[in-house]
Amino acid sequence: MIKKNDVIRIFKKKLSDLKKHNKHYFDDDNPVISDKDYDELKKEIINLQEKYNFLKDLKLIDNLVGFPPTKKFKKIKHLKPMLSLSNAFDKQDMIDFIKKIKNYLNDHENNIEFFCEPKIDGISATLIYENGDLVKGLSRGDGITGEDILENLKTISNIPQKIKGDNIPKLLEIRCEVYIGKKDFFKIKDKFANPRNAAGGSLRQKDPKETSKIPLRYFAYGFGAVEPMKFLKQSEFLSKVADWGFCVNSLSQIATNIDEIEKKHNDIDAQRSSLDYDIDGLVFKVNDLNLQKRLGFTSSFPRWAIAYKFSAEKAVTKIKDIIIQVGRTGAITPVAKVEPVTVGGVVVSNATLHNEEEIQRKDIRLGDVIQIQRAGDVIPQVLMVDKSKREKKSKKFIFPNKCLCGSTTVKEISKSTKKEDAVRRCLKGYDCKFTAREKLKHIVSKEAFNIDGLGKKVIDQFCDLGLIKEPSDIFQLNYKKIKSLEGWGELSVNNLEQAIDKSKKISLDRFIYSIGIRHIGQENAKILASFFISIEKFFQLFKPKNRETILKNLVELDGIGQTQIDSINTFFSNSKNINIVTNLVKKLIISEISLEKKSGFFSSKRLMFTGGFKNMSRSEAKSIAEDKGGKVLGSISKKLDFLIVGNSKPTKKKIDQAKSLGIKVITEKEWDKILNS
Ligand code: IVH
Repeated sequence: MIKKNDVIRIFKKKLSDLKKHNKHYFDDDNPVISDKDYDELKKEIINLQEKYNFLKDLKLIDNLVGFPPTKKFKKIKHLKPMLSLSNAFDKQDMIDFIKKIKNYLNDHENNIEFFCEPKIDGISATLIYENGDLVKGLSRGDGITGEDILENLKTISNIPQKIKGDNIPKLLEIRCEVYIGKKDFFKIKDKFANPRNAAGGSLRQKDPKETSKIPLRYFAYGFGAVEPMKFLKQSEFLSKVADWGFCVNSLSQIATNIDEIEKKHNDIDAQRSSLDYDIDGLVFKVNDLNLQKRLGFTSSFPRWAIAYKFSAEKAVTKIKDIIIQVGRTGAITPVAKVEPVTVGGVVVSNATLHNEEEIQRKDIRLGDVIQIQRAGDVIPQVLMVDKSKREKKSKKFIFPNKCLCGSTTVKEISKSTKKEDAVRRCLKGYDCKFTAREKLKHIVSKEAFNIDGLGKKVIDQFCDLGLIKEPSDIFQLNYKKIKSLEGWGELSVNNLEQAIDKSKKISLDRFIYSIGIRHIGQENAKILASFFISIEKFFQLFKPKNRETILKNLVELDGIGQTQIDSINTFFSNSKNINIVTNLVKKLIISEISLEKKSGFFSSKRLMFTGGFKNMSRSEAKSIAEDKGGKVLGSISKKLDFLIVGNSKPTKKKIDQAKSLGIKVITEKEWDKILNS
C-alpha cells in the first residue's frame, strides 16, 4: 500500500504543477500544456483528494482548483463598497437583530417590515448601467475594488445589455449573485469541487468563450449606486428590476414579526433540496429604503440586513483525543480531535468543546461516538454523545487546570455580575508563549496592522525560530536570516519588508484595537480613539494616577461600559503590557484622529453629545453628524466646536464646562433644524 507521506508528496507536487500552469494560463496568457492536459491535472488532484480523506484536512487546494487568483483582469474601484452580511443562526439571534434595529431607530412601537430573500450560494457581481446600457461588470474582489469581468458577465443570457422600460435611472448599479444550476453542475462535476467553485472559476476565465460554455445564471438582489434614486422599498426595487428584464428570485416575501420570520425560514428550508440552486439561508432586509439609509453600516456589515442561516449540517464521528488551545486572551478552549468526517462538503477533524462546563454537562469522554454540527464557517461543535456506544472502561474527562505554558489557570469572577466565568484562563499574557503567539497573530490580522504576507502560519514559523517574541520585533526582523529560510526568497522577503514598513503608519483606533485589550473590539477602539485623539493622550493611561481619572471619564462614553473599563485597567496595570506597548509605539507613526474633509453642516468640526433625543438613538445621531462632515468626540476639551444637548437627561456638568470653554451649545430643537436643513 502506498504510504501516507508519499501520497502527500505526490499531491503537493501536482498542486505545485497546477499553480505553475495557472500562472502561465491566467496571468501570462501563455499556457505551456494543452487544455486537455490541464483539465486532466486538475481532475487528478480532485480524485486524489476524494480518495485520501487526510488530504482534505490539509486544506491545500482552497482557491487553487478552478478558482485561481489571477492578475488577468483590470481592477476597478467599486462605486459603493460591496460588503457582506452578519449571520444569525437561531430565533434568538433574529430577536436580537430586530431589537438592535429598534434601539438604533429609537422606535419601540412600530413593527419593522422585512423583505426576505433566499441567500444564493454563488459568486457576487455588480452590473453598472448608464442610461440603460450595460457599461461595466465587476466581481466583488475585496469589496472595495473588483475585477473587470464585463465580457464574461455578458455571456450570461438574461443579463440585459440594454434595459428596456420606463423611468430607468441614469445610473443604475445592480448587485447580483451568479450561480450554476445543480443539474448543470452535475454535468461538469468532475472538474470542480462544488457549484460555487465552478461558477467562480467560469466567471474568471480569461476567455469569455470559455465562460459561455458553462451555463451560468444569476439573481439580482440589490443595488449599489443609483441616480436618481426613485425606489422607496426593497420589494419595489426588485419588482421594478424584474419588469426591466432582470432575473429576480420568486420565493422572496415580506415578513413583519418574529413568527413570520420563523415560518418563512422553516418553509424555505423545507424546499431547499428541491431548488435547482444552492441556498444557505435567508437574507432579511429592512424593506423601507429610508430606514435602511438611517440604519447605515457598522464597520463591516449593514445594520439593516442579516443572513439567517439554515440549521447546520450534522454528522456522526468518534473522539480520538481532547486537547486544549490557548486564545489571545488566555482563554483555554478544549478541542476534540475527531475521526475525519464530511459535514456539508467539508472534511472536519476538529470540534470545539467550548469550555470545562460544557464537557461536564454533556459528559464528553475520550473515545465517545458523538454527533457534530457545522454552522456557517464556525468551528463544528458537539451536539450530543451517543452513550449507548460508550466503552465500559471509559473514564470521565478531567479538565487540566494548567495552561500549555504550565501555569495554573483560573476562572475569573465577573466584577459586575459576581458570577464565575465559564472559561478558564491563563493570566500570564505575554509571559505565556502560547497566549503571546495568538496576540501576535491578532496584531498582524486584517483589521489590525493588516500586514500582507505575515499570516498566522508565518507568525508560527517566526515564533518557532525566535525571530519574534513581542510585537515590536515585527518591525525589526532579521530579513537576512529570513531569506535563508526554506520557502523564502529575495522577492518574498522584499515584499514582506515593504508590507511591514507600510504598516508602520497606523491610525490611533486601529492601534488601540491591535494591542488586544480584552473586550475592546473595533467599534470600541474607535470610540476610545475619538476620546484620546492622540497617542500622547493615550499614553496617560500608563501612569496609575492619571489612569484613575481617565477611567472615571470613560464611563460617560457611549458604548464603553464597566466591563471595558475594568479590562483597560487590568491591561495597563500590568507592567509587561506597558513595556510591550511602549516598545511597539517607538516603531510606529500613529496618526491623530483626523478630520475627514467632508462637506456638510459640521464640516471639519468636532462635536459631542449629551442627553438623549426623542426621534433617534445616540448611535444614529452620531452617524448623522459624521455624515454631515463632523467628528464626534468623547470628552470635553478646547478642541470641541459644539456640544449638542438632547432633552432627555443631559449632564449639567458637561453643559457648564462647554459654556466656560466657549463651546457652542446646540439644543435638541436646533439639532432637528440642522437635520432638516
Ligand atoms: S444582500 C450589504 N441578498 O451574500 C450586503 N446578498 O454575505 C448586502 N447573497 O455578498 C447583500 N443572496 O454575494 C444579499 N438575496 C441576497 C443574497 C446575497 C446571496 C450573497 C452576496 C453577498 C453575500 C453577503
